[in-house]
Amino acid sequence: MTIELDLRDEFAVLRINRPEALNALSFSLIGDIGEAIDRAGASDARALIVTGAGEKSFCAGADIKELMDRPLAEQKRGAELGQAVFSRLDRLRIPSVALVNGYAFGGGCELALACTFRLASPNARFGLPEIKLGLIPGYGGTQRLPRLIGEARALELIMTGRTANAEEALRLGLVNRIVEPPLLDAAFAFAREFSSHGLLALQFAREAVQRAASTTLAEGLRAEADLSTLAYRTADAEEGMKAFIEKRKPVFKDT
Ligand code: CAA
Repeated sequence: MTIELDLRDEFAVLRINRPEALNALSFSLIGDIGEAIDRAGASDARALIVTGAGEKSFCAGADIKELMDRPLAEQKRGAELGQAVFSRLDRLRIPSVALVNGYAFGGGCELALACTFRLASPNARFGLPEIKLGLIPGYGGTQRLPRLIGEARALELIMTGRTANAEEALRLGLVNRIVEPPLLDAAFAFAREFSSHGLLALQFAREAVQRAASTTLAEGLRAEADLSTLAYRTADAEEGMKAFIEKRKPVFKDT
């Protein structure tokens, strides 16, 4: 089993477990990640933590040995597979947190970018080094990185292929926080800052914010008006406002 999915406390933990290849992503592993994402979405988990086995690497990217000598049509299908699987994180009913415990290069960095949030261990290293292979990122990096850190900074990382350490990644806005070991406990503590809120409101918030990067202000505001109005229709909104008036903690039921 190279992709493991465990339910721990109120969270699902997806672990890429191929440390002998620094958790590099073969195509079959990418398919397994997709299945694990679906299982996490169907579970009772309130957030998905994505991490890598071992202390050295989150994920060193696509499996370079597997990428060689394939017909172009297959290379395109490979990029589309990686993009489609990572995009499932956008539509996942629960938020996701990449717990980057070492190298996050190429497809590994792109997996982290596709998560809702990113946490970095002090030894985390980020990069899109495809240019050094004569390639460019193919699992969403050219689209998600500029949306996250801006065009100039994204172009610098993509065109130089250089590595950013955890401190720089934090400065760039590539990660939300640097966390100290024990890393999984730190990820759980981070996720608990939002995981007791209603999942529907969390989903509407993610969807509205994601629109900001892909549409005009006028259209984005329309989407915000629609989604914020939809939130009023939920039982959680009724409970949240009632709890405020009654001066108690709300009990959300994700309905
Ligand atoms: N694919 C396949 N195998 C990989 C790999 C990868 N991306 N990254 C590491 N490995 C393997 C190595 O081949 C090595 O295996 P062997 O022991 O069998 O030789 C093992 O993992 C350990 O790696 P190193 O000995 O190289 O470890 P290191 O600590 O000296 O260096 C590293 C670590 C800097 C991450 C280096 O392994 C490296 O540069 N890896 C490649 C990173 C990369 O270029 N990623 C982008 C891939 S392309 C891509 O992802 C395209 C896309 O957009 C989807």
